[in-house]
Amino acid sequence: MKKLLLGISFMAAVVMAKAQQLTDEKKAMKDLLDKQFAFALKQYQILAKNTPADRMPKTYYAKSNKLETSDTKWWCSGFYPGSLLYIYEYTRDSGTLKEAEKRLAILEKEKHYTGNHDLGFMMFCSFGNAYRITGNTWYKPTIDTAAASLATRYRPGAKVIQSWNSSKQWKGPVIIDNMMNLELLAWVSDHGGDPKYKEIAINHANVSLKNHFRPNYSSYHVVDYDMSTGTVLKRGTAQGAADESAWSRGQGWGLYGYTMMYRFTRDKNYLKQAKNIAKFIINHPNMPADQVPYWDFNAPNIPGAYRDASAAAVIASALLELGQYATKSERKLYVGEAKKMIVSLSSDAYRAKLGENGGFLLMHSTGALPLKSEVDVPLSYADYYYLEALLRYKNWYL
Ligand code: GLY
Repeated sequence: MKKLLLGISFMAAVVMAKAQQLTDEKKAMKDLLDKQFAFALKQYQILAKNTPADRMPKTYYAKSNKLETSDTKWWCSGFYPGSLLYIYEYTRDSGTLKEAEKRLAILEKEKHYTGNHDLGFMMFCSFGNAYRITGNTWYKPTIDTAAASLATRYRPGAKVIQSWNSSKQWKGPVIIDNMMNLELLAWVSDHGGDPKYKEIAINHANVSLKNHFRPNYSSYHVVDYDMSTGTVLKRGTAQGAADESAWSRGQGWGLYGYTMMYRFTRDKNYLKQAKNIAKFIINHPNMPADQVPYWDFNAPNIPGAYRDASAAAVIASALLELGQYATKSERKLYVGEAKKMIVSLSSDAYRAKLGENGGFLLMHSTGALPLKSEVDVPLSYADYYYLEALLRYKNWYL
């Protein structure tokens, strides 16, 4: 009897210690999130001051102390207003909302843009969040028009959206990044729009699932199609280390894209694909200990290769959503990996100090190394997906 009582008290003590540990871990994460958003609020006030009223911030070069900005046609033009909206969502700071509204006003005209596939990045990360967070119906027609513009790039012969226009190098290029733009289409159909947009998104996701991936679930960056028949002409890269390499941010776009498409369709093939991509990323032997990937998983000079904080931010945000659709043990793995990425990105190694980094939050991203463009710099989308990951952590796991 004594032994039994002792056993029961021991078990109760273990359960209580585990519960306490969980509470402590949650409290530590809550503190981290509060701190990061308080910082982001102030840092983005500096970025706002640095950015001309008719431009969007793009990156910053520390050596020359130069903030590079873009016009609203640049594929990243939605990320700055999107980040402001995420900061507003967490802090409810009215000045931040005002700044977001000013930037949305200059972006709005791009709802008619049809020059490439990036309408989702541009108009949904911005106006999609504005509508979701404020509930202001004024934003809805802009989102609907943007979906119609993106749909003009759909090629029924191949059942995909053409990412870039034809060039000397590519006839009908589709890049893995394109998966991200499907959210705009699926959302519009699910919110009173033409059902054909979601059908386009599903067709694109199905064809990409078939053609964009290797047997180990890493993805090619570019697949070139004959758009009238759907025949694959070649597979290669524009931003990766080699045609057969695994460009890190591209792996993130694929993971995020199939997780998001599962949200809209509940198609088990998409969930399976996302879990397999996650496995490829998490188990990759070249993943550094701090879980912030090199710019390419097969970069030639690992461990001396540049990192890509933007890839870590995209992957962290995607893993947090995937955790919502996973078994308990898978969720533990995905959320645990995402947490490590968030903690690393929030450390002095990646997160800038107040007033530095041109006003951006994160340092050490890589845009397009083979093009010698945006190497080891801050990028607007690294900040955007980092803030999204912080919010997702707060909303789903605290
Ligand atoms: N969508 C372009 C990039 O990821 O760099």
